[in-house]
Amino acid sequence: MMILVTGGAGYIGSHTVLALLDAGYQVLVLDNLANSSREAIHRVEQISGAEVAFVEGDVRDRALLGQLFADYDFSAVMHFAGLKAVGESVEKPLMYFDNNVGGSIHLLEAMKVAGVKRFVFSSSATVYGEPAEMPISERCPTARPTNPYGLSKLMVEQVMQELSVAEPDWQMAALRYFNPVGAHESGLIGEDPSDIPNNLVPYISKVAIGELVQLSVFGDDYNTPDGTGVRDYIHVLDLAQGHVDALRYLEKEAGLHVWNLGTGNGYSVLEMVAAFEVASGQAVPYQIVPRRAGDIATCYADSHKAATELGWRAERDLNAMMTDTWRWQSNNPKGYRG
Ligand code: NAD
Ligand code: UD1
Repeated sequence: MMILVTGGAGYIGSHTVLALLDAGYQVLVLDNLANSSREAIHRVEQISGAEVAFVEGDVRDRALLGQLFADYDFSAVMHFAGLKAVGESVEKPLMYFDNNVGGSIHLLEAMKVAGVKRFVFSSSATVYGEPAEMPISERCPTARPTNPYGLSKLMVEQVMQELSVAEPDWQMAALRYFNPVGAHESGLIGEDPSDIPNNLVPYISKVAIGELVQLSVFGDDYNTPDGTGVRDYIHVLDLAQGHVDALRYLEKEAGLHVWNLGTGNGYSVLEMVAAFEVASGQAVPYQIVPRRAGDIATCYADSHKAATELGWRAERDLNAMMTDTWRWQSNNPKGYRG
């Protein structure tokens, strides 16, 4: 069975392509390389020994989508393509809504025309806003996210919701990721931010490799055990497996299904720094600075629904997340560029 993977050259997409190949699927990647490199696909081929069909193009290109659906008999679409920089989305909301929401709608339209109705969407825990309960289960109501990036994820979920009401035979999943980190254990693929990273673990690894001087810890006065923010970090390989398990489920069940993909454990910023230092043997100097606007104190998943319905649970611990991050970072100090 052939799966169209949009954004498959990116961080989570490339690891999921590997998991799909491993599960016996064929894959075609559509990516405009806005935030990724063709080299990631070569590396996926190197690890898997399989060929990965690749088309450089944009999910907003209706003609290209029409051609792809005419040329290939896709059984499903996994949609990772999107922009993800929270700060940039505040400055360029139109760009984010056009790419993330517009792109998703074009894709769903092309699927409808082709009669392909199985769709897995990369959503985010950001759709819960400032959650009323912790851990966060899928029953927790969504709330208006504080930035256009988060809002674009919620908007696409709402589009999927209305589509599933109008056409109940669609088989759709919104996977709400918590904080993906880590890399493939080969050290050949991983997260490769093109700019100064916004997210914690990529920032820590750039400090450890000596590219950045020190980490700024955003606040130590939260209501958490050590005062720093607590998040549910999940290994990207566990996340990738969650996509395969969701796809298998959709092959049997219609409707829109929502699953949290998290471990259920929360770690503070300072715990993350300490774990990275142990795994890498490198010092990670840091300073405490004021809180970052829009951050919440604590966020971790209730992941029982995915465990019960998909038989999925995260298997890799914090040490594996950090060891694999460091192997990728130290083997590829310049990411895919060097
Ligand atoms: P990424 O930037 O590494 O991957 C996204 C890929 O999509 C890139 O390869 C990029 O070139 C491609 N792309 C962007 N716009 C495109 C377009 N219009 N047409 C074709 N390709 C396009 O990001 P990632 O971390 O792998 O995230 C994948 C998805 O998961 C995104 O939708 C992201 O919003 C979502 N997500 C990520 C996180 C996270 O922490 N990384 C958390 C929650 C949700
Ligand atoms: C952020 C986004 C979220 C997005 C997610 C994945 C914000 C407000 N939220 O989530 O919408 O879905 O990334 O892309 O941007 N931290 C530091 N120093 C740093 C970086 C982070 O102390 O240099 C702290 C943060 O305050 C937080 C934790 O580390 O407590 C994790 O931060 P980050 O990796 O950016 O993820 P989120 O804020 O959870």
